[in-house]
Amino acid sequence: MSLKSIQKKLEYTKYVVGEQLCYYEPSRNKSQNTLVQELSSSLNKKQKSINPKFFYDKKGSQLFEQICKLPEYYLTRTEISILTQLYEKLPPHLNGDFRLVELGSGSSKKTRTLISILERLQKHVEYFPIDISKILRDSSKKLRDDYENLHITGIIDSYESGLEFIKNYDNKKNLIVFLGSSFGNFDYENGLEFLQKINSSMKKDDLFLIGLDLVKDKRVLERAYNDSQGVTAKFNLNVLSRINSELGSNFNINKFVHHAIYNESQNRVEIYLRSLENQIVNIPKARMILQIKQDELIHTENSYKYTIPEINKMLSMTGFRIKDIWYDEKQYFCLVLLSKND
Ligand code: AVJ
Repeated sequence: MSLKSIQKKLEYTKYVVGEQLCYYEPSRNKSQNTLVQELSSSLNKKQKSINPKFFYDKKGSQLFEQICKLPEYYLTRTEISILTQLYEKLPPHLNGDFRLVELGSGSSKKTRTLISILERLQKHVEYFPIDISKILRDSSKKLRDDYENLHITGIIDSYESGLEFIKNYDNKKNLIVFLGSSFGNFDYENGLEFLQKINSSMKKDDLFLIGLDLVKDKRVLERAYNDSQGVTAKFNLNVLSRINSELGSNFNINKFVHHAIYNESQNRVEIYLRSLENQIVNIPKARMILQIKQDELIHTENSYKYTIPEINKMLSMTGFRIKDIWYDEKQYFCLVLLSKND
């Protein structure tokens, strides 16, 4: 599909911010429709839930940046320590020029390592950040200011739409990266489906780098999602404020509390909002009136943790070949480099 037709089909506006930077943003209508449609279904089920991708409005993205710096939240720090090893370990895998495509680029802080690696090897570096959050606008501008030879095309949308965008885009090799264990938000079935989608949007010589959080001591995990400063609680509650401001609802965030536990039989941290009392909430733009019982839980996120055998299995089932796998000292986290298996 050509860029023009994608722009039209998915209701994007293209913003050109100079020669080095442009980005595509969906219309406000498109984003609001998605929110309404998904909530109408997920809040009407017996187990009410809100998709974690809705955490990332402006405030939510800022709170997530704060989470990444928390002493208890080992994920970001650990992944950066592994990325630093790649200055030496990645180049042997790169034959020729690569474009960097990032799913869930967020602040693009971790990406700097990868951009620097490519900049050493190539004359020009193209970077396609894909993120649901508008934070992409600011993070891309900062990157542009810091790297002379970088050309950025951002897509402010879901991963799926982003993958659609790069599929059949051109003949250049892509290095697709999906960091931070964001993959952990998918449950097993959807995760496999997503990996297949990535695989089918790759060309023969493309590479895929994925960051995954590993199974570890329950106490370490629960601390990471119940930090002492209460930032994770704020982040979780913020999704209700977001729904209030975008859909005109009247969630009272003082009547909910953050609840996160590690489910050992499923290898996942489960995150909820627990209602402190019986309450009724009105969501006008979704035409919903919700009855919420005291102690009822609204599920807002799963964060899966993996074992190496599971990782091997998932990736081989979805058509990948593991080229290399890198860990931190404690084996808390890993980065897996993959190619298409054919
Ligand atoms: C962005 C999905 C990787 O699961 O650790 C952090 C989100 N939620 N604290 C994670 C999150 C609560 C994060 N991911």
